[in-house]
Amino acid sequence: MKITLIGTGYVGLVTGACLAEMGNDVLCLDLDAAKIRILEEGGIPIHEPGLAPLVAANVAAGRLAFTTDVDRAAAHGLLQFIAVGTPPGEDGSADLSHVLASARSLGERMNDYKIVVNKSTVPVGTADLVRATIAAELARRGVDVAFSMVSNPEFLKQGGAVGDFMRPDRVVIGAEDPRAIDVMRALYAPFLRNHDRLLVMDIRSAELTKYAANAMLATRISFMNELANLAGSLGADIEEVRKGIGSDSRIGYSFLYAGCGYGGSCFPKDVKALVRAGAEHGHRLQVLQAVEAANEAQKHVLARKITQRFGESLAGRRFALWGLAFKPDTDDMREAPSRVLIDELLARGATITAWDPVAMAEARRLYADRPGLRFAASALEACDGADALVIVTEWKAFRSPDFAAIRSRLREPVIFDGRNLYQPAVLAQAGLQYEAIGRGDPATRRIPA
Ligand SMILES: NC(=O)c1ccc[n+]([C@@H]2O[C@H](COP(=O)([O-])OP(=O)(O)OC[C@H]3O[C@@H](n4cnc5c(N)ncnc54)[C@H](O)[C@@H]3O)[C@@H](O)[C@H]2O)c1
Repeated sequence: MKITLIGTGYVGLVTGACLAEMGNDVLCLDLDAAKIRILEEGGIPIHEPGLAPLVAANVAAGRLAFTTDVDRAAAHGLLQFIAVGTPPGEDGSADLSHVLASARSLGERMNDYKIVVNKSTVPVGTADLVRATIAAELARRGVDVAFSMVSNPEFLKQGGAVGDFMRPDRVVIGAEDPRAIDVMRALYAPFLRNHDRLLVMDIRSAELTKYAANAMLATRISFMNELANLAGSLGADIEEVRKGIGSDSRIGYSFLYAGCGYGGSCFPKDVKALVRAGAEHGHRLQVLQAVEAANEAQKHVLARKITQRFGESLAGRRFALWGLAFKPDTDDMREAPSRVLIDELLARGATITAWDPVAMAEARRLYADRPGLRFAASALEACDGADALVIVTEWKAFRSPDFAAIRSRLREPVIFDGRNLYQPAVLAQAGLQYEAIGRGDPATRRIPA
């Protein structure tokens, strides 16, 4: 099948590469010429495990190409996937300017039947807006070209995007036109070979399903973060509580980890957009308002623990910071808790030596030469002479560090762990004090063997 991806970011590039892998003829369009140049030169503009070889193989096989040429992209695909960004606008609602610009551009050029597939995360009713935008352009041109609208929200997670796309839990198709539904079924059949997990529904329900999924996951995280803060005060260990409730099959273990807040390009903006959509329709989504507020507060929890120990002014203090990306296996720092912590520590007069396995280039881009922020050559080097180690991202490489080496490099033997990576007893044995999220006071709590 001939497919165009409009937008070659995290979602567009992964979708394009995975569809090409199944034998489709895919052209990825982006207006960002620098991004397309990197791809044309054989590079990958983002860090996503498994993506580079997939892109290289499909480019070599002639099934995947990149362009900034809008005319070529519009002519190429029977399927035109819109996968552009929908960042939060000033009032929290999703900014649809890129989606509608893509629709307009398609309407200006479309000369034969197309299936327009919205993969961006968009508020309910956006498919109608896209349809009307394209129709208005066609009318302006005085041409009569048929097209179908489909909503196909994407559920991949960064850091595991290729696996998620190749083996989806489900594929949601919102569509009314039987011809478009047949094409979408055929397109996804190779990804659903062991059993059919393709859910066809009306467009509005498909649009809402994506927000509902992210809002539910964000809710679980904020719920656990609030309970963790309470557990800490009560002398209980949220990690034990997590296992205690996760083992209930009605609850399950996923997204029950307490930490220093969720970030990324999706949860924060999607929760905000859903709250906003509720307000527009006279519904105050109180649970989600609380989810967002709890998360904003949680992003300050590490700084609070640090000031409790070192005082409100951190002038003259230096902290080793492990983890800049909003989650492991990505270099994405959009809405990352590390950014809130960095800003707060610097504002309080501290300096920071940061380390991240892949996100340091992105951090350099974001912070340029911000005074007080330095990047280390290794995780251990970051600890050299620092007052404490602070962990913000749960990279696998941080899970079993050399505690003795950390201890010998730090000026004060303390780790602030925003991701609960360690056993308190192990740290105690290593002579390190451990400030984690919701783990009570190790001195007063008996830790099970
Ligand atoms: N990142 C994720 O994990 C994820 C997961 C599921 C859904 N989503 C949703 O998918 C959408 C895209 O997210 P992303 O993370 O891939 O964004 P992104 O910012 O990484 O990529 C978007 C790309 O679209 C390009 N673009 C913007 N306007 C364009 C236009 N008119 N024509 C061509 N290209 C254009 C931008 O230059 C950019 O490269 C968003 O709505 C997001 O909420 C993201």
